[in-house]
Amino acid sequence: MVTVEVCVGSSCYVKGSNQVVAMVKEMIEMNHWEDQVELKGAFCMQMCSEGLGIKVNGKPLFKVGLHNVREELTRAIEEALS
Ligand code: FES
Repeated sequence: MVTVEVCVGSSCYVKGSNQVVAMVKEMIEMNHWEDQVELKGAFCMQMCSEGLGIKVNGKPLFKVGLHNVREELTRAIEEALS
């Protein structure tokens, strides 16, 4: 099981973490990852200055914003699933 954690702290919320949550749900559905990928909300990961706070299996994604989050998350999830 791959765990995707999305920070819903105030700084990330302002940067659009609610859109990321919706996008991850959509990705899980589209790719039929329901049994393989788990989405969790998280409090501040102390990554506020690095972009959005997102971790895949505990590994932080750096320099991620709304412009590149889909590509970065897809790559990280596929890597974790392989
Ligand atoms: S509020 Fe998201 S990492 Fe700090």
